[in-house]
Amino acid sequence: RTPVLLDCDPGIDDALAIAYLVSEHRAGSIDLAGLVCTAGNVGLDDTVANALAWLDLAGAPPVTVAAGAGGAIAIPHVFTPETHGHRGAGHAELPTTTRALDPRDGAELWVDTARAHPGELVGIVTGPSSTLARALELEPALPRLLRRLVVMGGTFRGHPGNTTPVSEWNVDVDPEAADRVCLAWDAARATDPTVAPARWCGLNLTERAVWTPERSRRLVEVAQGSTLSRHLADALRFYFEFHDSVGEGYLAQVHDPLVAWLALHPEAALTEPVHLRIECAGEHTRGMTVEDRRGHRGRPANAEIVIDLSVPGGAVAVLEEVTVSIAD
Ligand code: BDR
Ligand code: CA
Repeated sequence: RTPVLLDCDPGIDDALAIAYLVSEHRAGSIDLAGLVCTAGNVGLDDTVANALAWLDLAGAPPVTVAAGAGGAIAIPHVFTPETHGHRGAGHAELPTTTRALDPRDGAELWVDTARAHPGELVGIVTGPSSTLARALELEPALPRLLRRLVVMGGTFRGHPGNTTPVSEWNVDVDPEAADRVCLAWDAARATDPTVAPARWCGLNLTERAVWTPERSRRLVEVAQGSTLSRHLADALRFYFEFHDSVGEGYLAQVHDPLVAWLALHPEAALTEPVHLRIECAGEHTRGMTVEDRRGHRGRPANAEIVIDLSVPGGAVAVLEEVTVSIAD
């Protein structure tokens, strides 16, 4: 069973990613070896409390959960209560949990889990890269220890940003951290070409993962009204209202479960190798993912950007699979 570590900031779509990975763990297709919480959509206390509560609701067996970075490396942290609700779970009232938090820092959990499964661990990041950047300081060989890294972050091939004209939120909130990830994979790939380039799933792909009220109804129906499905539907209702308020319609883009699914189905991604850096200085471009597609920098590709899905039905078919998995 493939060991998987999720570093997330729940967050409404992160909650779908957690529920999906738990159901795959319970079905025996993966081993959810660790869950790291990073400050992101809401503060660290809330991302931790939410992750533990969603694990409870999903009926997860004991999973090692650790709290990671409480903010960005170089700038004050920016929260998004308007997107995910004040506590990060939209309209869902999450139960209090008795699940214990691992005493280690999230960065240590990254390193320990990778060392425990050399060459096997699939790392998934669905929040800012702040904790992963710290893990890379602790263990610069992390890229070599992982089987692959899959990141929800950035936006590619000129697709517009969702935070500034050119930046995606997870990267924008901590560009220095995201750039350290790029530099770590650059260094690893320059000395060892067998290291897999980090796989970056940006808005050009993830904005296709549109969750509708019909899909929430389907989730609740297939799950026969389970407590998990009703809480997810309550959380998603807030996400619909947010997207509606910014003129995108009464629906939600659920980036994170698509990326979690892709991490388990790497063959379903059409990718392009690039050399990736993050703009950390530009007055108008800070947080921009700058992919070198033509070898201008003369460096080996440190990233693969996902440009399309090779599954019939595309992102909608993926969300149906995620729905059925969660409901099981
Ligand atoms: C990313 O930002 C967060 O709000 C979502 O959870 C997702 O990870 C999309 O830009
Ligand atoms: Ca997220």
